[in-house]
Amino acid sequence: MFEDKIVLTGVKPTGHPHLANYLGAIKPAISMGHTAKQHNMFIADYHAINAVKDPKILNQGIKEIASIYLACGLDVNKSIFYRQSDIAEIPEITTILYAYTPKGLMNKSHAYKASLDKNREAGKPDDDGINMGLYTYPTLMAADILAFDADIVPVGKDQVQHVEIARDIAGAINAHYNATLLKLPEFSVEDNIAVIPGLDGRKMSKSYNNVIPLFADKKELKKLVFSIQTDSRPMEEPKEPEGILVYQIYKALAPIDKQQEMAQGLREGKLGYGHIKNMLLDEILRQTDEARDKYEYYMAHFNEVEGMLEDGAAKARPLAKRTLERLKNAVFGRM
Ligand code: ADP
Ligand code: TRP
Repeated sequence: MFEDKIVLTGVKPTGHPHLANYLGAIKPAISMGHTAKQHNMFIADYHAINAVKDPKILNQGIKEIASIYLACGLDVNKSIFYRQSDIAEIPEITTILYAYTPKGLMNKSHAYKASLDKNREAGKPDDDGINMGLYTYPTLMAADILAFDADIVPVGKDQVQHVEIARDIAGAINAHYNATLLKLPEFSVEDNIAVIPGLDGRKMSKSYNNVIPLFADKKELKKLVFSIQTDSRPMEEPKEPEGILVYQIYKALAPIDKQQEMAQGLREGKLGYGHIKNMLLDEILRQTDEARDKYEYYMAHFNEVEGMLEDGAAKARPLAKRTLERLKNAVFGRM
């Protein structure tokens, strides 16, 4: 589907990903790398510093996210894998984009508006705790995308607006210079990935504290899976699987024959909640065991990962430089 496209994925290194992040974002991003003409996969560490001020925590986040992507199958021979902060052209391009970014566009950005709303709800001044990095977040994100002439940016629904802002800025610059200096990117939202519920039945989300971490240790994982909400109906009572949380999570993960086995057992009153929780636990372990071992390897040998990130940056820099030169030539009237 993306054979002739440049696809670009950015991920913020904040917080250990959970199972729904893996199924909804990490897995599809990695498979994109196998099919696109060019796939850029980068760690958005400049975006992270708006919120994370402790370098130790920041570096731990970067280490984790890089190791997770590699452990889950990111192929550095197919994807250009780098840290945003290793590409100095990105902030340089951002500076040029600022001159074409209406302030009103930033006022509407949802990342900023969410913080503003929170402040108002808490009765705090509007600007409390809001730094310029957060306020201008979409312009840096636009530079991430435009620097590489990306055609497609796969994102979750919450990031669609940011890709649209990148399009708007690129369109304004192209119109001003009456030239195609920047490629207008498109977002792609994976609609057929269902919203995976968390331990309490709400959407699995860091903000709800109801997640199954991707690589929790086995004891912790068992504890979490056994804490998934159930009711007190006895095993023998036939149950409609769709209404059962454990089944809903299992469905997002297990192959179809296993899903059917669980559904049938529930309908016939042959499987109790203990059984199905064990089935879910086994399936999570089965699907993540190999990756978990690799993850631990990369975390323990991060110098190897650093090497991969440096190689990726060496591939990415000339591409971003090309865009920067194109922009500077137009903006400063150079030949
Ligand atoms: P969180 O809600 O935990 O903060 P993010 O907003 O960081 O998660 O999500 C990152 C990506 O992970 C999203 O763009 C989406 O693709 C995927 N994702 C997150 N939560 C879910 C979920 N419950 N079900 C399916 N996909 C999800
Ligand atoms: N804003 C994205 C998020 O919070 C991360 C990101 C930064 C990004 N730059 C990007 C995503 C460029 C796609 C393209 O998830």
